[in-house]
Amino acid sequence: MSEKIAAQDTCVLVTGGAGFIGSHTVVELLQGGYRVVVVDDLSNASAKVFDRIRTIVGDEAAANLTFYEADVNDRAALSKVFDEHQPDRVIHFAGYKAVGESVSKPIEYYANNIGNTLTLVDVMREHGCTSIIFSSSATVYGDPDSLPLTEKSPKKPATNPYGWTKWMIEQILTDLHTADPAWNVVLLRYFNPIGAHPSGLMGEDPKGIPNNLVPYVAQTAIGKRDAVHVFGNDYDTPDGTGVRDYIHVVDLARGHAAALAWMNGRSGVEVFNLGTGTGTSVLQIIEAFSKACGHEIPYVIEPRRSGDVTANYADCSKARELMGWEAQFDIDDMCRDSWNWQSHNPDGYEG
Ligand code: UD1
Repeated sequence: MSEKIAAQDTCVLVTGGAGFIGSHTVVELLQGGYRVVVVDDLSNASAKVFDRIRTIVGDEAAANLTFYEADVNDRAALSKVFDEHQPDRVIHFAGYKAVGESVSKPIEYYANNIGNTLTLVDVMREHGCTSIIFSSSATVYGDPDSLPLTEKSPKKPATNPYGWTKWMIEQILTDLHTADPAWNVVLLRYFNPIGAHPSGLMGEDPKGIPNNLVPYVAQTAIGKRDAVHVFGNDYDTPDGTGVRDYIHVVDLARGHAAALAWMNGRSGVEVFNLGTGTGTSVLQIIEAFSKACGHEIPYVIEPRRSGDVTANYADCSKARELMGWEAQFDIDDMCRDSWNWQSHNPDGYEG
């Protein structure tokens, strides 16, 4: 059993805390009274997000935030952070996340994602910190045999190195607990995080051409892209386009706060799906986003993208029953907030 500690006495190390999901989680933690230390190398994020976080949470809560620009794989830098702050728990987001790029750069993806996790847990162990929440993905379920997906649904072989890193890190953390039952591991399997902070101050800021649907739709809505490329309309779904369980990033961030509260004073390995339980097709997303931005969004039908599954959506009853967490925002809310962010920050944080 790990020690039970009040939020204001808990220091949470957030790796990748400047990124899309990380930054929204940092806001929820600061608002929940936690002390937060972010380690991020800014390889795919901007330090400007910290000004936005400060504006959202206010000066008093923001005083509980410390940022280190460092690579989690830099053992000396990470050890220094642990020496200075003695984190009680870790939320591990830092990692490369572009599926297509992972296929062409497998060495970089394995070295970075798995390497940084091994460094992290080793430094944690050296400092007596054995509580970790890992940012996993519904990608570990592969092409599902049946829907909705529960945490008991089988893991399937991944279709790309990015997916394998999520798959393997889940295994590594599970093995750690087998070796030392003091470890307190929560694996959060995200479905498709979209949306932005309702303040319009924080959102997704992809570099280059977006790989994921909603950032691409948002950039098309604002005129940066000509048309959305719909990858396949011959799937066995109501309108033929792929179906996913989109979840508002603020709901997802609150899922991490719920997991932190739930894991307090425990040990073990627990897996939770974080989604809404509702499937939405590509065409339904384009329609909802058109409504949010007030004009039609052009799209063209293209062949299927290799590696894509037909449909997936989550059964989230475990998170509701154990952690008391449930998604609050619907697709219209997600598109509204995403558009609000995109239209006020057309060039992201650097604009
Ligand atoms: C992708 C990853 C997944 C990762 C997740 C992170 C793949 C195969 N999977 O999920 O491992 O955890 O991102 O957010 O990349 N689509 C289009 N046009 C586009 C982009 C997407 O039609 O320009 C369609 C896709 O075919 C799919 C849906 O939109 O049906 C969602 O795609 P995307 O946003 O890329 O997410 P996933 O593929 O579900």
